[in-house]
Amino acid sequence: MKHSKLAAIVVAVAFLTLALVSVIPAAGPKDVVYPGKTLGDVVFKHAFHSTEKKLSCKDCHPGIFKMKANGSGMTMEAMNKGEFCAKCHDGTKAFGVLPQENCAKCHAAKCEPTPAPQ
Ligand code: HEC
Ligand code: HEC
Ligand code: HEC
Repeated sequence: MKHSKLAAIVVAVAFLTLALVSVIPAAGPKDVVYPGKTLGDVVFKHAFHSTEKKLSCKDCHPGIFKMKANGSGMTMEAMNKGEFCAKCHDGTKAFGVLPQENCAKCHAAKCEPTPAPQ
């Protein structure tokens, strides 16, 4: 009697652990969106960096970024000095943040309002 109760608890704990473990990686690789104010939005694609570029979580977490959207205090100013995204986006490991022609590689183009016909 006691033993079967213990076995049931062990099985329940094992199932809970499995369920949690299978939920954690799914939460990681979703996109993180940074709404643009002067330029267009930036979409950081976890899947592209992890799956396609084969970077490991440790290449970015916790050294460069906290595991929390908008949790790292990232600014473009700091990136222009080689921090955050620019640890890789330096023009060598990946396209750099400084050249004007690269802004649109991260920032979606913001549409200018169509001028009213004269
Ligand atoms: C190329 C860099 C990079 C890699 C590799 C990477 N991440 Fe991230 N991750 C980020 C950035 C950037 C953020 C957002 C941080 C911020 O805005 O301050 C983030 C945020 C997160 C978040 C929080 C998401 C949210 O909506 O709050 C989780 C969870 C996470 N990462 C998990 C993972 C896991 C798990 C892996 C490995 C499978 C991984 N990351 C690999 C860069 C990376
Ligand atoms: C650990 C290194 C690393 C970090 C940190 C990193 N990237 Fe990348 N990223 C890469 C590499 C490598 C590529 C592919 C090489 C290239 O395109 O020059 C890439 C490519 C990209 C691309 C092009 C995707 C495509 O579909 O072609 C975008 C957009 C991008 N990164 C955005 C970001 C943003 C935004 C951040 C910061 C939140 C960031 N990356 C941080 C390594 C990194
Ligand atoms: C590697 C990707 C990447 C590149 C390339 C890049 N940026 Fe950014 N930029 C970001 C991210 C991510 C943020 C959001 C950080 C934050 O939360 O403020 C940002 C934020 C900004 C902001 C503040 C938000 C806003 O819209 O006002 C400005 C301004 C900006 N970038 C200008 C530029 C300019 C100009 C260039 C080209 C010379 C450029 N960026 C290139 C990733 C990039």
